[in-house]
Amino acid sequence: MFLTVTPNPCIDKTIFIPKFKPGDRVRSNKYTQISGGKGNNVARVLVTLGFQAGALLWVGGYTGKQVVKMLRENDKVKCFPVWTEIPTRTITTILEEEYGRQTAFFEPGPLISSQEYNDFIQTFNKVIYSHSIPIVVLSGTVPDPKVSFLYRDLIKIANRQGIKVILDTYGNEFSEGIKSNPYMVKPNVEELTKFLNTDLKDINSKIEAIKHLHKKHKIPCVVLSMGREGALVCWNNTYIHILPPKIKEINPVGSGDALVAGFTVGLYKGFSIEDTGRLGVALGTANAMMWDIGKFAIRDLINIYERIKIYKINPISNQKVQYKEHTPLLALLPKLKDFSL
Ligand SMILES: Nc1ncnc2c1ncn2[C@@H]1O[C@H](COP(=O)(O)OP(=O)(O)OP(=O)(O)O)[C@@H](O)[C@H]1O
Ligand SMILES: [Mg+2]
Repeated sequence: MFLTVTPNPCIDKTIFIPKFKPGDRVRSNKYTQISGGKGNNVARVLVTLGFQAGALLWVGGYTGKQVVKMLRENDKVKCFPVWTEIPTRTITTILEEEYGRQTAFFEPGPLISSQEYNDFIQTFNKVIYSHSIPIVVLSGTVPDPKVSFLYRDLIKIANRQGIKVILDTYGNEFSEGIKSNPYMVKPNVEELTKFLNTDLKDINSKIEAIKHLHKKHKIPCVVLSMGREGALVCWNNTYIHILPPKIKEINPVGSGDALVAGFTVGLYKGFSIEDTGRLGVALGTANAMMWDIGKFAIRDLINIYERIKIYKINPISNQKVQYKEHTPLLALLPKLKDFSL
């Protein structure tokens, strides 16, 4: 089982309306809700790919119970809830169908007591000792700035157990987390720009930035996701750029989480960096083609996977050369055949 960690989950609610302007009172006759939070999105993608996923999360109140229920019943994810005094937040997105425009409202996350912090660490320990966990994915923000060092502590524990950690976060959580040497990080361009406090507009500066994380911070696998421009990956001193085909973008939220799920599978299965990157980018792109976060059509995934282009980058000159070989997706993940028609 893979373990995802989501310290700051939410009910992710979308209300569909024709259009609105600030100050309006708007009635809707359609809404959807899912168990939100970045690690939960990763878990949902892993389950769709045919893997078992567990979710460790802080939850509280009625909304917290709902998150756990939806994860268990709808997403088939094994849940390890750690209860907080303060209820779980709801994120409400208003989707104006006439414009395809979305406006999101975020409630604050809970404050965490020292007891609740210790409960989280203890539950993490229990889960990794009592299950066979090859990879842990740490995703998103930590709700209380007082404990923004949470990931630093969790990575230390996982590393002692020989479990690979993928860290996908930003801000303090990122700068604290990388002090404990995660196996992989996945910032997007905005997140890495802020962390390095430098402009990452052209491709050379992006390559130099991932080199920096790889060499200076000793992170074996660095993935910089770049939306429709795909991803730059550095893995043990090999550098590649993975470029997805053009698609009709419906909702790219959670595409980074879908990409992380692909890398989780590739690292676990021992796929090559090129096959792993192709799978990750194809998942991110397939996610962007659907409204629901962490959902994709297997048909889209297979189709995109075949159309992706990969370029190898010479780490000295930064010159790119196209790399043409790849393993068909159904040869990598034969179980997908069962869901693909
Ligand atoms: N418009 C798009 N066209 C094609 N591929 C896309 C598009 N948007 C996202 N992707 C794919 O998804 C991957 C991750 O996207 P992005 O860089 O936007 O992640 P992110 O900002 O971390 O997203 P989030 O945090 O919401 O999950 C990209 O590397 C790319 O493969
Ligand atoms: Mg992201």
